[in-house]
Amino acid sequence: MKNFVFIGGSYGIGFSAISELISKNDKKNIKVHVYSRSWDDGKNRGEAIVYNPFDVLKDEFDTSGLPSAIDGFVYLPGTIKLKPFNSLKVEDFMEDINLNFMKMVLILKKLIPHLKKSEHVPCVLLFSSVVIERGMPFHSLVGASKGAIEGFVKNMAMEYAPKIRFNCIAPSLTNTPLASFITSNPKVLETSIQKHPLKRIAAPEDIGKLVSFLLNEDSYMTGQVFHPDGGMSG
Ligand SMILES: NC(=O)c1ccc[n+]([C@@H]2O[C@H](COP(=O)([O-])OP(=O)(O)OC[C@H]3O[C@@H](n4cnc5c(N)ncnc54)[C@H](OP(=O)(O)O)[C@@H]3O)[C@@H](O)[C@H]2O)c1
Repeated sequence: MKNFVFIGGSYGIGFSAISELISKNDKKNIKVHVYSRSWDDGKNRGEAIVYNPFDVLKDEFDTSGLPSAIDGFVYLPGTIKLKPFNSLKVEDFMEDINLNFMKMVLILKKLIPHLKKSEHVPCVLLFSSVVIERGMPFHSLVGASKGAIEGFVKNMAMEYAPKIRFNCIAPSLTNTPLASFITSNPKVLETSIQKHPLKRIAAPEDIGKLVSFLLNEDSYMTGQVFHPDGGMSG
């Protein structure tokens, strides 16, 4: 039995990733423990998903219901707050870094003993953004919090090799609720599509497939940042 912990996964990239992961495994041999604030009851969870109502900003992460061995950890909560640096307060940076990075560290500390007990080489998978590879105006908040994640992943990968793998995915604009303030504006969306060499933005499935691939216990990759970004960072 393989067990995975997803913080987030009720929709967006996380939901696509979980659907892909379950489709690639025997449903009787996989459990995905999802922690998020909501779950749309219209979405059938099936026997492979164990849902736990959880707000990363309010609740303490409780591992007592988890099996002793965990085979992968994915942290999805993130932000896209685009503002000129002039209008940002120090508190904005603290809030962003808290959700994207600090809360992940708190949960990871509790999961390390479980990851160490995996029979495989489990993967910790975190999310960055294309703006670390290719800077953009008004992205200083994303740049700060996702930059921390990339540096963390590379160094943790070396510290925990060969027992635990650490990898990072850095997408460009992806069609999820997080990005709806951009994708719902046809003019802004078209401008963004034209900026991508592949002339489209990502669907959540484009990223979900990569998540599922990297969680595979046979993967030989650690300390990497992957760029499913339609060529934006090329
Ligand atoms: N979409 C993009 O264009 C894009 C681009 C670059 C990078 N990324 C990064 O990719 C990652 C996933 O993005 P996404 O677009 O799939 O995001 P999303 O559509 O906002 O989905 C985020 C997931 O995290 C959960 N979540 C959010 N806040 C939470 C909280 N306080 N407590 C518990 N769960 C919480 C949400 O569930 P609930 O609301 O039910 O809690 C949801 O399942 C993020 O780190 C993002 O920064 C996204």
